[in-house]
Amino acid sequence: MTPIIARTREELTAARASQGTLALVPTMGALHEGHRSLLRRARELADTVAVSIFVNPLQFGPNEDLDRYPRTLPDDIEICAAEGVDLVFAPTVDVMYPPTALGARVTVDSGQMGTIVEGACRPGHFDGVLTVVLKLFNLVRPDVAVFGEKDAQQLAMIRRMVADLNVPVRVVGSPTVREADGLALSSRNRYLSPAERLTAVSLSMALRAGAEAAGDGPAKVVRAARTVLDGAIAADPPLELDYLVLVDPETFQEVDDAHTGPAVLAVAGRVGTTHLIDNVPLAFGHASE
Ligand code: PAF
Repeated sequence: MTPIIARTREELTAARASQGTLALVPTMGALHEGHRSLLRRARELADTVAVSIFVNPLQFGPNEDLDRYPRTLPDDIEICAAEGVDLVFAPTVDVMYPPTALGARVTVDSGQMGTIVEGACRPGHFDGVLTVVLKLFNLVRPDVAVFGEKDAQQLAMIRRMVADLNVPVRVVGSPTVREADGLALSSRNRYLSPAERLTAVSLSMALRAGAEAAGDGPAKVVRAARTVLDGAIAADPPLELDYLVLVDPETFQEVDDAHTGPAVLAVAGRVGTTHLIDNVPLAFGHASE
């Protein structure tokens, strides 16, 4: 089944007139197996599945990969058709950000949480993400929206926005999909040369080493992961580590060694010119145990 393709707000409004509940999967396109798993999750949650495909300039910094970010709309539509997607909303930049509004634009402020961890590496990134996600929610009006847990801070921030701004949508996370060797699927993986890919896999190896040390407490987790990353930092090509942190899954504040309950071990770094992120959810024993 070919999905309905909407390129403008008017086409979207006409297509959105369908009955029943709607699940939205917001994406920037270059769809891969990870996105497919989001689409399947969305199908379980609502009568109609909509996908947005939009490379959002607002969430890219001046020296980031906006220009080279892969744009593969015909392939993406084929994947959507194969996954039984009902509606693809693929607006242009002018549709999402009409030129007349330039200079007088109101955007979402991601607050303090938008300035830490990934937000510290990419100033303004989460303001851009939250702005476009809120716009997509207002345009598509989904009952539920599905996001990948690979972007754990993004997911936490979208949940925060929905709670703080009373946005009437249910946010659902879907687990990270990995290659056989552990590398988390990402549209940016296609930038990696074979040698860079070998270095990149150290991110997931480090997370696995950290997870295996979870029984020994937070400090051991970070140490075990760091040991793996030290190897990658010394490799050729090297990993340039941006951060390795153990954080609270809701606030992304770092936890201390006495922490009990859920946490996220999050890592990011650059291999060549490619920025890669990954994370693993962990749980530490409660004091009463
Ligand atoms: O995760 C992404 O692909 C993007 O950040 C999102 C949520 C579609 C907003 O542009």
